[in-house]
Amino acid sequence: MSVILRTSELWRTFGGVAAVAGVDFELREGELRCLIGANGAGKSTFFKMLTGQLKPTSGRITLYGKDITNLPSFAIARMGVGIKTQVPNLFNGLSVRENLLVAARFRMSAREAAEAADAMLERIQMTAQAQLATGSLAHGHRQWVELGMILINDPQLVLLDEPAAGMTAGEVERTIALLESMRGKRSFIIVEHDMHFIRRIAERVTVFHRGRVLVEDTMDEVVRNTEVRDAYLGQHGREAR
Ligand SMILES: Nc1ncnc2c1ncn2[C@@H]1O[C@H](COP(=O)(O)OP(=O)(O)OP(=O)(O)O)[C@@H](O)[C@H]1O
Ligand SMILES: [Mg+2]
Repeated sequence: MSVILRTSELWRTFGGVAAVAGVDFELREGELRCLIGANGAGKSTFFKMLTGQLKPTSGRITLYGKDITNLPSFAIARMGVGIKTQVPNLFNGLSVRENLLVAARFRMSAREAAEAADAMLERIQMTAQAQLATGSLAHGHRQWVELGMILINDPQLVLLDEPAAGMTAGEVERTIALLESMRGKRSFIIVEHDMHFIRRIAERVTVFHRGRVLVEDTMDEVVRNTEVRDAYLGQHGREAR
């Protein structure tokens, strides 16, 4: 499978702090990659550079062979990238269905968008909540609305920062099922703390530590790695094993 996304010597500093310190990264077509690491390890900063929300201090990002290092988010989204940031990005005053419609209208006619919104409501199992204001929903449900808003435009690359945060165990299962239904058909980068969730979905895992990539391997190897345990899994390792 070909490499679709690549970063070379990517850096981002804030004042004197190097949040991301020279990351070389590659994602292959159809791959589902999880990024893990302790709080403050640099995952979201790295993620925001991929999505165009933050400009790198130095280094380069290429997507489908095109240099996207300084492109804004909307231009990256137009290349077929679906982006879910750590903080849900919803129109709280609008209903679930209206949020999906807004997202769909990015590319579709009004009639196509209405059909797509109804189909997506089924897919995220929220038809019964279609008319509720998203601002009134629990966090896990808000996460699904946002997933629906991303998937409605059929992105080839999906970037998710903490998609399972705030979900109950049952909700996490439904999220896993949704991701499983797309495995291999789209490419994913998923930042997540929930080790149970990662265990279930992960193929290769990239471990961030102090702005760098500490290890990149299968989940089994990552869990066995003593350096990773010291750096991160001390907090979470028990759940992971
Ligand atoms: N806008 C900012 N201004 C200043 N410092 C920042 C900013 N964003 C991130 N940092 C710092 O950069 C480092 C990496 O933060 P980042 O949010 O990327 O970590 P993370 O791995 O996503 O953590 P978490 O798991 O808590 O989400 C931290 O030291 C953080 O305080
Ligand atoms: Mg983060």
